[in-house]
This record gives sequence, C-alpha cells and structure tokens, in this order.
Amino acid sequence: MPLSPFLSLALAVAVTVGSAQSSGCGRDIPSKFPSPGSSKNLSLPGADREYRLYIPATYDKNRPAPLYFSFHGASKDMLEQEGLSQFSNPEFNKDGIAIYPNSKNGYWLSNPNADTSSPNDLDFTNDLLTHMEELLCIDPSRVYSAGKSNGGGFTSVLACNATVGSRFAAFASVSGAYYDNDNTPGIGPCAPAQREEGYPFLEFHGTIDTTAPIDGNDSKNPKLPTIDILEGWAEQNGCGHDAKWATNETVFTTPLVKHAVWNCDGKQGIVQHYREGDNGHCWPSTVSNDDYTSNPDQCPLGKYVFNATAYIFDFFGGYRLETQLVDRDHL
Ligand SMILES: *[C@@H]1O[C@H](CO)[C@@H](O)[C@H](O)[C@H]1NC(C)=O
Ligand SMILES: *[C@@H]1O[C@H](CO)[C@@H](O)[C@H](O)[C@H]1NC(C)=O
Ligand SMILES: *[C@@H]1O[C@H](CO)[C@@H](O)[C@H](O)[C@H]1NC(C)=O
Ligand SMILES: *[C@@H]1O[C@H](CO)[C@@H](O)[C@H](O)[C@H]1NC(C)=O
Ligand SMILES: *[C@@H]1O[C@H](CO)[C@@H](O)[C@H](O)[C@H]1NC(C)=O
Repeated sequence: MPLSPFLSLALAVAVTVGSAQSSGCGRDIPSKFPSPGSSKNLSLPGADREYRLYIPATYDKNRPAPLYFSFHGASKDMLEQEGLSQFSNPEFNKDGIAIYPNSKNGYWLSNPNADTSSPNDLDFTNDLLTHMEELLCIDPSRVYSAGKSNGGGFTSVLACNATVGSRFAAFASVSGAYYDNDNTPGIGPCAPAQREEGYPFLEFHGTIDTTAPIDGNDSKNPKLPTIDILEGWAEQNGCGHDAKWATNETVFTTPLVKHAVWNCDGKQGIVQHYREGDNGHCWPSTVSNDDYTSNPDQCPLGKYVFNATAYIFDFFGGYRLETQLVDRDHL
C-alpha cells in the first residue's frame, strides 16, 4: 500500500535531519591519518599546504563527529597551536576531531605580511573542510572555528565569507588581531551569507595586550578596536548598528574579568566577550602555556583565572547549523 503523501514527506524530513553526516561516514580511517587518540602532521593533496589532525579515541566511523578548527597566531605554527588551544585534550574536546591548519609563511590572510597568492587561506580552509568531510565521519552541522591573534582575526574573516563561513556553526577568537579588510585583495567587506542561525561569535581580550591592543592601534599594521568587531557581529546578527551589549557582568574580581553579552533578534548571547584584566596577548589558562612562558611581559600573572578553551567548547556546544541538512559533498 502506498504511503500517504503526508507520511512520506514526514519520513523524508526525518531521514534528512537524522542523517546529518558527511560522505566519509562508513569508511575506514585512511592509513595516512593518525590512529584514534593521536595527532599527526599531514598535507592537503595537490595543495602544498600542511595541517595537523587529531582524531579522538572515541572516533566511530559510523557516528558523525563534530570538527573543530584551530588557527595559530602570527609567526607560530600548527603544533604550537595544538599545545596552546588544547583542542586535542579530551578534557575539553569530548568526542570531536580537531584540525590545526598551517599558514603559508607564518601569517594568515588579513595580516599585511600574509602570502595572498591563489589558492589563498580561505580557499585552503574550504578545501580542507571538504577533504575532511570526504574522508572522515563528520557532522556537517557541527563544524567550528577558533584561533589566536592573527588566527583569531582570520576566524572573523572566515565568518565574513559567504562561501566558507556559512559551513561553520560558530566562531571564537582569542586576542584577535583585527585588520581593516575592506580593501584587502581576496577578502573585501564583511559579507556573510544570510542564515537563520546567525553567526555566533565569542571573543577574549586582555586589557594590557600590546600586540593586538584591545582598543586598536593606529601605528604600522593598524588594527581595529575589539569593540568594532563585536558590534560588527552584533549588527550582522540583527542587533542595530553600534548596538550596546545587553549585560556586562563581573565574573572574577581579582583580576577583574568582565563578561559582555549581546542578544540580537531573539538570539540570546549570540555575541559574547571576556575582557581580561591584567592579561595581555595570552590564551587564558589556569595552568601555564606557551604564551605565558614565551611572553611573560604581557602575561605577568603567569597563568589566568579561567580556561578560555572550556568556555569555547561550552559556547560551541550551544550551536549547530539547522538549515544545512544536505551533505554538501553530494551537491
Ligand atoms: C609537525 O609540524 C610542526 C610544525 O610545523 C613541526 O615543528 C614538527 O617537527 C612536525 N612534526 C613531525 C613529526 O614532523
Ligand atoms: C570567499 O571564499 C571563497 C572560497 O575560498 C572565494 O572563492 C571567494 O572569492 C571569497 N569571497 C570573497 C568575497 O572574498
Ligand atoms: C602600537 O604598535 C606599535 C608598533 O607596533 C607599538 O610600538 C606600540 O606599543 C603599540 N601601542 C599600543 C598602545 O599597544
Ligand atoms: C564592560 O565593562 C568594562 C568596565 O568594567 C568596560 O571597560 C567595557 O568597555 C565594558 N564593555 C565591554 C564590551 O567590554
Ligand atoms: C584548566 O585546564 C587545565 C588543563 O589544561 C586543567 O588542568 C585545569 O584543571 C583547568 N582549570 C579549571 C578551573 O577547570
């Protein structure tokens, strides 16, 4: 007996929603990849670009996993970023795949020193994501991007790009270096694709940062004030132009940490910011990390009162793409 049109429609929708999985699902992990519970340096075939990949011990080729991108700071690299961000640490990243792309010359697109030749960093990110979805079992509705400094600024650049940014559910930037990209070749003005979910954006910034100063810097390599980026994302998410935060609460008193939150177009906390007193250009962590040891001048406390990584995973956990029900690999 044929199904009623209503019932078959309901089934089709249910199947689509339940099968948010990439074409890599069901395949064995390629032999060049790390075994579950470890990381490995790799290069993207045909692109002469490197990345470091972590596959969690819990990986199951039949269960779609989230994927977390983590972009390194200027003049750092993918290995340093793995240690700094701790995205391969199961304490923070319970069951996701982590990927650390490497820049061409130490800088990401938007930094004036970046190698902008084609294919550029946006193309690379787009191709790397497609490659991962083809070879591993990934939930395309749970792909996220974070970065430090130039890598944090690049995360915002990524979100601004309609082609690549729309494939990510949420974004986080630690001590982001934000350049004015309106006239930067390959980037241009921020123009994300319109989508129901908006663009969740979480930012961390130290008040004594002299590398990417929280209030910007007009000197060589001019950088924008952090508030411009926060208000920019608030506006993109449906808050008005120059929209003020809804709340700005003290979450620690010594040192003083303020947490500012924007609620836009019914989306509570879609933009959030931690303002870190007595911290400079350092990834906040309650145990020392590479920033605190290599940059003690800017990070005089030697460690901090919270783990930015824990806050990032909490934030990411609240978002997934609802409209992206189709497997892009099959488009
Ligand atoms: C992995 O890449 C990092 C960063 O480029 C490099 O320092 C490290 O030596 C590489 N490790 C191996 C095993 O090749
Ligand atoms: C966005 O990124 C895509 C993919 O890398 C690229 O082809 C496109 O030119 C970028 N768009 C803009 C407006 O820069
Ligand atoms: C602005 O940048 C210059 C050069 O990079 C640096 O010497 C100066 O300390 C920075 N200013 C602030 C307020 O951080
Ligand atoms: C939050 O409050 C602090 C003062 O405690 C202020 O400096 C800051 O501009 C406020 N807003 C944001 C977004 O940090
Ligand atoms: C912060 O993370 C480290 C691991 O990197 C962990 O040892 C520490 O307990 C965490 N701190 C808090 C307050 O959870």
